[in-house]
Amino acid sequence: MRSVWVGSYGSTSVLEMREMPVPEPGAAEVRIRVKVAGINYADIMQRLGLYPNGPKAPFPAGFEVAGVVDQVGSEVTEWHVGDEVMAFCQGGYSDYVISQPYQIMPKPEQLSWHQAAAVPCQYLTAYHALLTLGQLKAGQTVLVQAAAGGLGTLIIQIARNVGAISIGTASTAEKCALIRELGCPYPVQYTQADFRDVVKSVTRGQGCELVIETVGGNVFDRSLKCLRSRGMLVTLGIASAEVPQISAVSLLANNWIVAGMHLMGYVTDRSAMAHAMRDLHTWLLDGKLEIIARHAFPLEEAARAHDFISGRQSVGKVVLHVAD
Ligand SMILES: NC(=O)c1ccc[n+]([C@@H]2O[C@H](COP(=O)([O-])OP(=O)(O)OC[C@H]3O[C@@H](n4cnc5c(N)ncnc54)[C@H](OP(=O)(O)O)[C@@H]3O)[C@@H](O)[C@H]2O)c1
Repeated sequence: MRSVWVGSYGSTSVLEMREMPVPEPGAAEVRIRVKVAGINYADIMQRLGLYPNGPKAPFPAGFEVAGVVDQVGSEVTEWHVGDEVMAFCQGGYSDYVISQPYQIMPKPEQLSWHQAAAVPCQYLTAYHALLTLGQLKAGQTVLVQAAAGGLGTLIIQIARNVGAISIGTASTAEKCALIRELGCPYPVQYTQADFRDVVKSVTRGQGCELVIETVGGNVFDRSLKCLRSRGMLVTLGIASAEVPQISAVSLLANNWIVAGMHLMGYVTDRSAMAHAMRDLHTWLLDGKLEIIARHAFPLEEAARAHDFISGRQSVGKVVLHVAD
């Protein structure tokens, strides 16, 4: 089978297509025939060797797929050959992957294969950051960095669905128009305006209850100052690769909460996962959640797809098309 590997850490030139044997599932494992592999910003950080506790090169790229169950181990009872699924895995940029039963979710019929590939990582992160950890409530205000991205477009819609008010940042007027359509009443084109001024005016000087931060560097520092007393900043990523430093004194003096979140710490929480999947199905049925998945590259063009995301050209989800 085909499998895209990170041969060594570095630019997209380190991505190489390898011919590998089709993997055999163990007794408690499931094999999936991949239709679409999701690309996440984490894939880029792993390729660069900047991901905390990331895989050591060489390693197979990607960790998220949508596809069809193709073989199940003898101890697996919850999944069957032919099930249409979305899943976490290792080496998602491949024709076949192995997953553990708890890492697999049924694909909602309302979603295309391309959209389904956004659920494991981006939908679940958006949900748990806003609701499981952030406890966002109707009427509260949330500041969302990189709001037109794969994660951001879902955060904006979930915030709207629970009756919260979002302030979302993006680099271009087109990206701002998209997030407005998705329910963000206050898009901020950060190349033209300072999001701190918008937060000040929308919250009448009080600051936000919640900030979702994914950029790092001075965006983190400026975002922190957008919190109200007892507000929470959730740090999810460092797209700029500039690791911020926090002063403990500024936290205690302002009553600010800073929380880190990594999705894998939530995937084994059965109750939180059940809530996330229940709300996903309800919102899809009610037409209240649109997964933006406009950018699909062939598996062979994984390098071009990574450059597309790093170059900030994407909106919503970017995927690799593996098989029809
Ligand atoms: N902790 C977790 O479990 C978890 C899970 C999922 C994602 N994340 C994190 O969430 C963030 C978003 O992930 P995603 O996969 O949805 O990616 P994405 O948002 O679709 O793409 C990245 C976007 O980030 C913005 N950006 C800001 N500074 C950037 C920089 N220096 N270089 C490149 N882009 C920059 C760009 O939007 P503009 O053009 O509008 O600036 C770009 O389009 C990433 O930091 C990722 O690591 C964390």
